[in-house]
Amino acid sequence: MTAIDLEQSSSIVFDAATKVYAGQPRPAVDNLSLTIEAGQLCCIVGPSGGGKTTTLLLVNRLVELTSGDIRIGEQSIHDIDPIALRRSIGYVIQQTGLFPHLTIAENIALIPQILNWDKARIRKRTNELLELVGLAPVETFAKRYPHELSGGQQQRVGIARALAANPPVMLMDEPFGALDPITRANIQDEFLSLKDEIGKTTIFITHDIDEAIKMGDKMAILQDGGVLAQYGTPEAILSHPANEFVERFVGEDRGLKLLTLRTLQRALEQATNRPVLMRRSEIQASNLPRIPETATMQAALSLALNSQSTAVIVTSENGLDAVELSVQRLVELGSTTTAPPKTSRARADA
Ligand SMILES: Nc1ncnc2c1ncn2[C@@H]1O[C@H](COP(=O)(O)OP(=O)(O)OP(=O)(O)O)[C@@H](O)[C@H]1O
Ligand SMILES: [Mg+2]
Repeated sequence: MTAIDLEQSSSIVFDAATKVYAGQPRPAVDNLSLTIEAGQLCCIVGPSGGGKTTTLLLVNRLVELTSGDIRIGEQSIHDIDPIALRRSIGYVIQQTGLFPHLTIAENIALIPQILNWDKARIRKRTNELLELVGLAPVETFAKRYPHELSGGQQQRVGIARALAANPPVMLMDEPFGALDPITRANIQDEFLSLKDEIGKTTIFITHDIDEAIKMGDKMAILQDGGVLAQYGTPEAILSHPANEFVERFVGEDRGLKLLTLRTLQRALEQATNRPVLMRRSEIQASNLPRIPETATMQAALSLALNSQSTAVIVTSENGLDAVELSVQRLVELGSTTTAPPKTSRARADA
């Protein structure tokens, strides 16, 4: 029995993974096959009872497979000692699961302590993580007990604890569910940049389709009975839902959601006839609302609506060039049928 290499980012492969709980007539997870590439984040979405949590528990062997296999890197999870396996996987559970009799700092230090890190290193890491998840002043929060924190703050401690030993694999079960929209957006952004920096392979469960679209390199949509309805990039799923269930699940506004994935810059790059650059004097004379090309197509349409304008001015990154885009043109550029997925994410899906 070996452990996972803690320094190495690894792929996760589900190979016909099936779980039938004892006494249940049908599987909770049914013949699930998909590959999450090393360093990528896969969002699992689906209805309540659809087998999402079970899928996570199968990976760290808190629930054992009925049939099929799961591999981390090249290794089957059956060949890894379950305790070692769990130590090398960061796990954020649906209810925060903090130990009530331990302080926040002690909760975060659990795995580093088991791994015998020295005290100074543990303290440094704990402070670093508290700051990362926005629990400042660090000294105050470190000494408190879980019941002295709000639900959202406890959830952030849960995330810090899972990140503590810097595991190569993260399993996150609705980790941001109890956070207000602003904290949630901040922590989503922080997690995404952190993930890019340290290349963690992550399975992330959420009920929130918008969160899945924002966070996921890929999305796995589970149907009732733990059946995989579709697996692909958010862009591919939104533009080509595999069936009626997926279409209903992603929502009638999937066209609008797709616009959140595409920047003006990219839409303009892909346009067949690009709009002409405005002259300096035209830019100065115009009182149309302005938006940088790094903003999304959705932000541009929203700006037009909010300012009751029939067009917006899109400015280049250096602020020198600008083009005028009518709402009509924005709609054409954002049309789901004319714009094939072309992101690096989408290429990985091909
Ligand atoms: N220990 C268990 N024994 C028997 N059945 C179980 C057990 N745990 C879960 N189930 C059943 O398996 C199915 C999948 O449950 P699971 O918790 O994986 O769903 P979920 O997609 O995470 O749901 P939610 O969105 O509500 O968290 C459900 O029908 C559930 O009742
Ligand atoms: Mg669940």
